[in-house]
Parts: sequence; C-alpha cells; structure tokens
Amino acid sequence: MRVLTGIQPSGDLHIGNYFGAIKQMIDAQNTSEMFIFIANYHAMTSLQNGEKLKENSLKAAAAFLSLGIDPEKSVFWLQSDVKEVMELYWILSQFTPMGLLERAHSYKDKIAKGLSASHGLFSYPVLMAADILLFDTQLVPVGKDQIQHVEIARDIALKINNEWGEIFILPEAKINKDLAVIVGTDGAKMSKSYKNTIDIFSNEKTLKKQISSIITDSTPLEEPKNSEECNVFKIAKLFLDKEREKDLQDRYLKGGEGYGHFKAYLNELINDYFQDARQKYNEFLEKPSYLKEILNFGANKAKNIAREKMQKIYDKIGL
Ligand code: ADP
Ligand code: TRP
Repeated sequence: MRVLTGIQPSGDLHIGNYFGAIKQMIDAQNTSEMFIFIANYHAMTSLQNGEKLKENSLKAAAAFLSLGIDPEKSVFWLQSDVKEVMELYWILSQFTPMGLLERAHSYKDKIAKGLSASHGLFSYPVLMAADILLFDTQLVPVGKDQIQHVEIARDIALKINNEWGEIFILPEAKINKDLAVIVGTDGAKMSKSYKNTIDIFSNEKTLKKQISSIITDSTPLEEPKNSEECNVFKIAKLFLDKEREKDLQDRYLKGGEGYGHFKAYLNELINDYFQDARQKYNEFLEKPSYLKEILNFGANKAKNIAREKMQKIYDKIGL
C-alpha cells in the first residue's frame, strides 16, 4: 500500500502531534510504502520570509528524522527538491474547474472573513493534488481539515482519467477517527493555537514551565486523588505501560503526594522518552549539510518515480 503525507513546516512540535500523528507514521513504515515530505511550497501561502521558511523546513526535517522517520525505509524529502510537482500542478490546473476551488474551505473561509486571498492560496488544493497524484498514492492519512483536499485530488484524477484513460490512481483519505485526542495543559485539545502545548524539543526551562502550568484541582497533598480526572495523569499515561500506569494510579489513590510530585514525574518521563530524539535533533541542526544529504537521498528516490510519471503525462498531453 502506498501512503503519502505532506507535513507543513510550521513551528514547534508538541506531544499531541507526536501521539496523534507522528508515531503512527513511524510505525507505518514497517507495513506500508511511506512517502513523506516537508511541504515547503505549501508553507509559502502563509510565510514569505525566506530565512524563516528555510529554518522551519530544516527544523521540521530534523524533527521527523530524529523521532524515527527512517530514510532507508521511507521516501523522505523536501517538496521543493522535486520540482516535477510544479510541472504537474500546471497540467492539473487545466482540468480543475474554478467552482471546485471556490468551494475549498481555506479559500472560502478567508473570503468570508472579508480578507483577500492570493492565487497561491486559491490553487493550494491543485498543488496538493499534484503531490498526491505524481506518486500514484493510494492512501493519504489526514486530519478532518484536509479531507476536502484529498477529494479534490480524486475529482481532478477522475476527470483526467475519463479523458486520457487510466493515468492516475484514485487516492483515498484515511481519517484517524479512533485516535485519542491528547489533552493540553488546560485540559482542552493540545494545540499550538490554544497555547496549551508541551513541546518535544523545547529546552529544560520551557518544558518545566509548560508542565508546571498544567491545571489541576486543589485536593490537599495528603488526601487521595482521582487520577482519571487529572490532566497530569492523562498526559503521563501516554508514556507508561499498563503496569507503570497502575503504579501511578496507586500513588494518586494513596495520598501523601501533591500534584507537584506528579508533575516532576511527568517531566522525567518526557525527558527519558525523548532523550535520544533530542540529541539527534541537535546534531542535525549543528550539521545542516548532513541533514541536506539525507534530504537529497530521499529527493533522488522521489525524483526517479516522478520523472517516469511525468514522461507518460507529457506524452499524453503533447509536450
Ligand atoms: P496544532 O493544532 O497544534 O496546530 P496541527 O493541526 O499542526 O496541530 O496537527 C498536526 C497533526 O497532529 C495532525 O495530524 C493532528 O491530527 C495531530 N494533532 C495535533 N494536535 C493533536 C492532539 N491534541 N491530539 C491528537 N492529535 C493531534
Ligand atoms: N495541506 C497539508 C496540511 O496542511 C499538507 C500537505 C501538502 C499534504 N501536500 C500534501 C498532506 C499531500 C497530504 C498529502 O497539513
């Protein structure tokens, strides 16, 4: 099964991203043919600062590699290193009705707010369709907000297949419905936009601050506590096997420890879990040329597939 996913290089990763998406991606490397890229072309629709875009893209690549994306198992590259996607984008554009894009959420929402949209944002779904169709993708794992984009890719592929014969695989969106929502420091869904995150690669001081801001009730130190309702426990659980989870539950029930103790324990758990990844991450950032080598290795693999596909398409379209 060929699975493709694009990652927007947008800021620091948090443990909600990790347990909600990245870990599945890493595990899937053993069962599927994974195509994973850093979507820096797409990021341009919201970021036009060159230095910042470069920095964010390299940081995202370093983060995913250090967390376990294996460039031998997966094809992992920087979107702009495989420029065939831009060629396909233009070709697909000829088969994309305006109405299809006018109904796309990100564009529609912006217009509804009375903001003006760029053509880049308007045609964002066509570029995403090119990402997907160029690599004969069968499955695209996505959050709810991206389903429509995969449907647009399917619509465009169908239209072209009707005209030219079976040239594109029809991709399907895979929605992670049963995945748990990871709570943030305030008990709501952890999200950058709610500023309630616990970040994976932040320094010790920031991590401490984020953990100490987790909201708890005011049960006195000596009294028994309900672990199931505690945000610290909900997060700590992610790092524990059943046995250690039970041990922690018992500590809550016994009383005699305050939330400060449980927060310190959580801090340790996070540090232990991400220790290796953090070390690798820093090494990558210190050696950007090594990082670029890995990205080039992936880009070459992707490029071979992309060139072959484009040749077929060029023949059809008469270029
Ligand atoms: P944010 O809400 O912080 O902006 P993104 O929208 O960039 O996060 O999410 C990137 C990926 O991480 C998506 O696949 C999303 O489903 C997953 N994800 C983000 N936050 C959570 C969470 N709190 N629980 C589970 N999955 C999450
Ligand atoms: N639009 C996706 C997002 O914001 C990123 C993306 C770009 C993508 N191209 C893709 C995702 C192709 C899946 C497939 O998250």
